[in-house]
Amino acid sequence: MPNPETGRASSGAAQQQAVGLVFVGCGYAADFYGATLANYPQVDVKGAFDIDGERARTFVAEYGGRVYESLEAVLADPEVGIVANLTPVSQHHPVTKAALLTGKHVYSEKPLAPALDQATELVELAAERGLLLSSAPSTVFSRSAQTLVKAVGDGLIGAPRLAYANLDMGALAFMPYTEWRSRRGVPWPYMDEVPNGCVMEHAGYQLSWLIAMFGPVVRMAGHNALLLGHEWPTLTEVAPDVSFGFLEFANGAVCRISIGWVAPADMALTIVGDQGCLSVKDVWQASSPVLLQRRIKASGKTNGYLAEAEQLPFILPAAVHRYEDTHDLTVGAGIADMARAVLTGGQPFLSADFSLHILDVSLRLAEGRGVAEDVPLLHADDAKLAHGRETTPDGRG
Ligand SMILES: NC(=O)c1ccc[n+]([C@@H]2O[C@H](COP(=O)([O-])OP(=O)(O)OC[C@H]3O[C@@H](n4cnc5c(N)ncnc54)[C@H](O)[C@@H]3O)[C@@H](O)[C@H]2O)c1
Repeated sequence: MPNPETGRASSGAAQQQAVGLVFVGCGYAADFYGATLANYPQVDVKGAFDIDGERARTFVAEYGGRVYESLEAVLADPEVGIVANLTPVSQHHPVTKAALLTGKHVYSEKPLAPALDQATELVELAAERGLLLSSAPSTVFSRSAQTLVKAVGDGLIGAPRLAYANLDMGALAFMPYTEWRSRRGVPWPYMDEVPNGCVMEHAGYQLSWLIAMFGPVVRMAGHNALLLGHEWPTLTEVAPDVSFGFLEFANGAVCRISIGWVAPADMALTIVGDQGCLSVKDVWQASSPVLLQRRIKASGKTNGYLAEAEQLPFILPAAVHRYEDTHDLTVGAGIADMARAVLTGGQPFLSADFSLHILDVSLRLAEGRGVAEDVPLLHADDAKLAHGRETTPDGRG
C-alpha cells in the first residue's frame, strides 16, 4: 500500500521523487493546506496564484514557492503537475477545466463543481486526457477515519448495519463569524458559505467516510429546511440550514444523516453492527478517539447489552503539523495521495468517480430529493467505490 505521508514510491516508480504543486486561490482555506504540506515530501510546492495578488504574496511568504502572475502562467509551467483549486465554488468549474485542458492533474476544494453536469464534464475530460481529478474533503485519511475504517473492515462489530452521522456545526448565525480570520488574517467568507449551504459545504465530511466503509449509496431520500434565514439580512441568497437524509449503501447498511448549522455542535459518527458499536465523537478532528463497545451477553432485569467503551489504538501516527484552528481536517493528505498516484500510477483514493458520487449524493440532500426511478445515482453500481476495492482507503503502505 502507498503511503501519502512518506510518499515512498514503489521500486518501479520513475526517478521523479516529488510532484510540483501550485495553489490557485489563497484565501481562508489555503492556510489549512499550507500548514500541513511539510508532512508530504512527495509534494513540491512551486507557488501560488490568486486574482488578489497580495493574498498570493502572503501565501508564498508563509509556505514557500513563488507568486504566479496569472492562471495562464501556472498552466504554462512544465514543472507544475498538480493544480490545487482553492477558489470559491463559483470558480471551481472554469479553473479546473482550464487546468485539465493544459494537462494538469487537479485537486479541487469541495464541491467538485456546483452543478452535476459541470462536474460530469470535468470527470469526462480528466478521463479522456488520462489526468487525475479529486475533490476535498480528505478527512477520510485522518487517523480517526483510518482506524475506524479498518475496525469495520476487520469485523470488530460484525456486519455493519446502521450508521448515525451528524455534521451539525452549531448555530452559525449566532457565532462571531465576521471576526474569524485565517492564520494570515484572511476573513472567513460567510457571504459565499451561507448561500452554498450546510450540505454543499459539509456533507462530504461524513459521506466520504461512509462510502469508504460501505460502498456507494444506492437508495436515498433527503429533506431540508431553512430555519434561521432571517438572521442573514445582508445576504440576498441563503440556502437551507438543516438537512436530514436516509441513505442505503451497497453493502446493505443504512444511515441517518443530519447536516446543519442550527443545532448545537455534534460531529459524531456511530456505526452499529451485529456484534457491537464503533463511534468517533468528532469527524473534524483528525485524532478524535475511536471507541468500541462490544456486544456482551447480559442477564437479569437490564437493558444493557454493550460492554464499556474501549478506545482503539490509532493505526497511524499524528500528522506533524496541526492547524491553528478549532478543527483538524487532514487537508493535505488528499493532494499527497494524488501525488503518490502520479508518481506510482493508479488512481488516488479520492478518484474522480468517488468525488462525483459524493457530489451527486450531496446535491440530492441539498435539494431535498431522493432517487427518482429515471435518475439513478451516479456510480451507485460501481464496485470500485466499495470498501472491497483494489486500493484501500488508508492510502498507506
Ligand atoms: N472557509 C473554510 O473554512 C473552508 C474550509 C474547507 C474548505 N473550504 C473550501 O475552500 C474553497 C475556498 O474557500 P475559502 O474559504 O478559502 O474562500 P476565500 O474567499 O477566502 O478564498 C478564495 C480565494 O480565491 C481567490 N480567487 C477567486 N477567484 C479566483 C480565480 N478565478 N483565480 C484565482 N484566484 C481566485 C480569491 O481572491 C480568494 O483569495 C471553497 O471551495 C470552500 O468550500 C473552505
